Amino acid sequence: MSTAAKPRRLIVASNRLPVVLSQHGEGGDWRLERGSGGLVTALEPVLRERGGVWIGWPGIEKGKVTNIDALLARSTAGQGYEVKGVDLTARQRDDFYLGFSNQVIWPLFHDLLTQCNFDPRFWKTYRNVNAQFASRIAGEVREGDFIWIHDYHLMAVARDLRSAGVAQPLGFFLHIPFPPLDLFLTLPWRYRILDSLLAFDLLGFQTARDRRNFLQCLEHMAPDVDVSGDGRVQFVTVGDRTVRVGVFPVSIDFDEFAVTAQSDDVSERVAGLRSEFLGRTMILGVDRLDYSKGIPHKLQGYRLALERYPDLRERVTLVQLVVPSREDIPEYFQMKEEVERLVGQIQGQFTRSGWVPIHYQYGRWDRTELIAHYRAAGIALVTPLKDGMNLVAKEYCASSLEGKGVLVLSEFAGASAQLQDHALLVNPHDVEGIADAIYRAFMMSTAEQQRRMQELRQIIRDTGMDWWVDTYLAAAAADGHGEFSDLETTRPQVPPGFLETEDDLQS
Ligand code: ADP
Ligand code: F6P
Repeated sequence: MSTAAKPRRLIVASNRLPVVLSQHGEGGDWRLERGSGGLVTALEPVLRERGGVWIGWPGIEKGKVTNIDALLARSTAGQGYEVKGVDLTARQRDDFYLGFSNQVIWPLFHDLLTQCNFDPRFWKTYRNVNAQFASRIAGEVREGDFIWIHDYHLMAVARDLRSAGVAQPLGFFLHIPFPPLDLFLTLPWRYRILDSLLAFDLLGFQTARDRRNFLQCLEHMAPDVDVSGDGRVQFVTVGDRTVRVGVFPVSIDFDEFAVTAQSDDVSERVAGLRSEFLGRTMILGVDRLDYSKGIPHKLQGYRLALERYPDLRERVTLVQLVVPSREDIPEYFQMKEEVERLVGQIQGQFTRSGWVPIHYQYGRWDRTELIAHYRAAGIALVTPLKDGMNLVAKEYCASSLEGKGVLVLSEFAGASAQLQDHALLVNPHDVEGIADAIYRAFMMSTAEQQRRMQELRQIIRDTGMDWWVDTYLAAAAADGHGEFSDLETTRPQVPPGFLETEDDLQS
């Protein structure tokens, strides 16, 4: 890791911690499990390498366990950083985490207005939980620290930190997309959120599209602000303050995946998978259970591929892992039922003696199992309807040691801005397009697979986790203009014949 941007101690705050406490059975043992999701994957190596303090919610109700901090300290001993818990009551968890965060901001910021529940009670609890986080952070912070707040659960923390007298620089990074103006305008607390965000010194977004959406909201709703600059970091002048607004696509520790993919454990498991799938191409899907991941659309695309291209039958198998998530929200539970109904229909339609078209698993894999599947899969189907980044796409490429494999990627995943030239891009709403992309991936020559995969791996290696954190911290530094060019925006795949002249079409 580069040491250029290292001097400040990091105080990181996010709702999710690298470990989650859960109870096994009523009155059973408390266990610490690894937190899942892109935020933990991205931040854990940063804290491990740079040290600092990570403040967040350990996933349980206040009062269930005494002395959580001691338990958290034991679980992360030797990792090189400290973890501190913020206790939430059951009601706070319901209204702040399940409510405002995941039934207001999550659906709205993923362009799914009809899934939103704008219950005013949620906002009140969101405000007071953000204030609680702010006082926990204020109690930890020392002179010279850099405070880095993560994700949509904590957008209102900066104002409270300033009111508590915290003068250290404050950075924020949004792991999820930022919605377009017309959607953002539907949020009853739209001005309160914008106002809270502007109390940070640096706002980081995943893609140029997210930042453009944010700036359009700002320019429309607050015409007095002035926006300048046109590179990776732009400057917003609000009264006598300047807020930096930048684009920093989050990433993975490329080497960690590449090295683990070569380990004996993984290699052994890959050999097992290859003999299990002998002569068949494994198509892999790994998604948290979430309506934003487009799992039903993916399954419909796969079904259509099997209908439209009969030579795929018995020659491909879709291995789909669905990782449990936010199970107390009705839409998530309904999504599980919908996915399982579709899987059942596809099995019923195509299963033959000796071949089932889908290996479906609802659960978690350990690291070895996950990386072995990445390495063994000939095609990865990553087709979210909308996603801040999607680290599964990057992990698949980093683990593809043989340099083969095809990444089929949604143009609405943030990762597509970086990977679009070498992945097969699809519109996840277009099931025919997904079906055709599966067939194209299946038919692709080894030479083309290798050429594409090499390029993908190079991009991910060059803009890995070190690059992400260095670029962000350089932008936060007072004189940090750094390397701020080359912003990519996803371009849709242009269909053949589009805008050709009539003569062209007739010929
Ligand atoms: P999201 O943050 O929305 O869940 P991402 O694709 O960005 O989506 O990140 C998912 C992350 O969760 C990946 O880093 C992936 O490796 C990780 N993951 C997947 N399955 C598991 C699992 N069983 N346990 C822990 N992490 C997992
Ligand atoms: O990446 C978006 C995100 O909400 C992260 O903040 C979070 O770690 C991940 O998805 C999983 O969600 P949750 O924390 O609700 O389990």
